[in-house]
Amino acid sequence: PQAYEADETSLKDRLAFIDRYPNAARITRLCMGVSFTALTIGALLGIVQALHRTNVFRGVISSADYYSVLTGHGVLLALFFTIFFLTGIFTWGTSRSLGMGLPSPGFSLGWFLLMLSGAVMTATAIFGGLVGQIPFSADVLYTFYAPLQAHPLFYAGLAAWLVGTWLAGADWIRTYYHWRQDNPNERIPLQMFMIMTTMLMWYIATLGVAVEVLVFLLPLSLGLIDSVDPLLTRTLFWFFGHPVVYFWLMPAYFAWYTVLPKLSGGRLFSDPLARVVFILFLILSTPVGFHHQYADPGVPEGFKFIAMTNTMFLLLPSFLTAFTVVASMEYGARQRGGTGYLRWLKALPWGNPAFAGCALAGMMFAAGGFSGIINAGMNINSLIHNTLWVPGHFHLTVGTASALTMMAISYWLYPQITGKRLQFYGVAQIQPYIWFIGMGLMSNAMHRAGLAGVPRRTAEPQYQQFDFAPVLGSMPEMRLQIAIGGTLLTLGALMFVLVMVGTWLAERGRGRLRVDSHLPEPISGPSDSPRVLDNVKLWFLIAVVLVAIAYGFPIYSMVADGAFNPAAPPF
Ligand code: HEM
Ligand code: CU
Repeated sequence: PQAYEADETSLKDRLAFIDRYPNAARITRLCMGVSFTALTIGALLGIVQALHRTNVFRGVISSADYYSVLTGHGVLLALFFTIFFLTGIFTWGTSRSLGMGLPSPGFSLGWFLLMLSGAVMTATAIFGGLVGQIPFSADVLYTFYAPLQAHPLFYAGLAAWLVGTWLAGADWIRTYYHWRQDNPNERIPLQMFMIMTTMLMWYIATLGVAVEVLVFLLPLSLGLIDSVDPLLTRTLFWFFGHPVVYFWLMPAYFAWYTVLPKLSGGRLFSDPLARVVFILFLILSTPVGFHHQYADPGVPEGFKFIAMTNTMFLLLPSFLTAFTVVASMEYGARQRGGTGYLRWLKALPWGNPAFAGCALAGMMFAAGGFSGIINAGMNINSLIHNTLWVPGHFHLTVGTASALTMMAISYWLYPQITGKRLQFYGVAQIQPYIWFIGMGLMSNAMHRAGLAGVPRRTAEPQYQQFDFAPVLGSMPEMRLQIAIGGTLLTLGALMFVLVMVGTWLAERGRGRLRVDSHLPEPISGPSDSPRVLDNVKLWFLIAVVLVAIAYGFPIYSMVADGAFNPAAPPF
């Protein structure tokens, strides 16, 4: 709290964001409100699944409804919670880093409402499946593989939501062009640079899923066509499905690079390195999608190999991030009086929930990165393919690195966009630790159970053979660990929501916000790097060329025999 009060910056910085840019603050609040609503529902579905499939507590749903629940969990958390948060924090970042509001409040509200109505349509289609009388149903999981078929509302909602994200990106980028007119020679502010590269990656990546939904799945579910090619549509999905993981991760990186160093008491170590990392993500995110299709027949091995190679190159920006972020934290700790090789860790503000959440999320991300290397290996992937190992992996990455960072950074950001003091501060302080312990248990047990062959995506994994897994200890023990971990996690999510709702309902006081919103300059600033880094068009072009190399031939060979062949009827 002391560090929070120590605000030595100009009056402009001391004014809360909400007073400077009321419109951007409102859009950010709206996006965060929807995001946290999705988180609440998704977390409740999470505990239902965890207890149901571990056989600890059944009774909320029947096994037949498990797929609707799992679809809701995946879509609400992996798509709506994360990406509504992204649109919120990027709206804030655009205005904050450019020092100007968004040009037209109506347009901004428009894309938000489009995203919201799309999300509501999709959720209605999913949860309609749980209510017998309603003709909707969408138990196709968040990957909606053809020829699984959902109600058209599911796809129409996703399409509307997606177009909303495109318009959001256009809104931020045109704000940038307004800024550019007044600042012809300035370097792009770092946060804006991150937003632009992330959105350009998103424009490339979503092309795949847009074609999949609009050309194939929506017409199929409307009955306009009667079959699709599962391989082609899966390929279009994973064209999008890997880069989407960076869309989840980039808001977290954005926070780790631009806010976490300050929360640690220091400054960002290197602005140029941060730019290099985001360029690498723009270039390499998309031409790797085939690493989700190692088990798919019909994709030439050589192209799987190219995808694997690109994937391993993607480790580079992640290692650069680990270095830069930890170096910034160490610098902060030493500014606060920390010494020694590792003792400086103790000087960090572990009682500040915004800091603690980001730091714990980063630690878990390292573990998730290692299990990700296993997933990415073409040969070793077959050991864990479609087992519980995979959800074990991505609950560390999107489920913690992204999710916990988003929660943690909200403790810092939400007061600035509401003008209110954070309520239930004590609850906020222990919340990241509850999440960390819960995820430690659940994810560890999922990884181990997966190695023993326990499948993912089923309400009934407890066939006899899995309870006698010979090597890795007893499976009942793993099941219990998953159940306890899942319960702690849901508790953690609800604690977060309590703090946010409490703050939302609190009076807007006139006192200081207990949040220091000033973000100091990096130790090594943008002028230490060549200007070509800011040539975003060049990096975008290189990205497009790489995508064409990685995908051109395989997609051509899939459509050469007709885009609907081999023809699979829907079910
Ligand atoms: C799947 C529990 C939070 C994203 C699962 C599964 C469980 C689970 C047990 C595996 C189900 C199966 O394969 O049969 C939980 C609990 C959470 C939680 C208890 C605590 C709140 C999250 C978060 C995210 C997330 C925060 C992302 C931001 C997913 C996704 C799947 C999944 C994408 C895969 C769905 C599929 O296979 O289609 N979760 N989870 N979960 N979870 Fe979570
Ligand atoms: Cu991937």
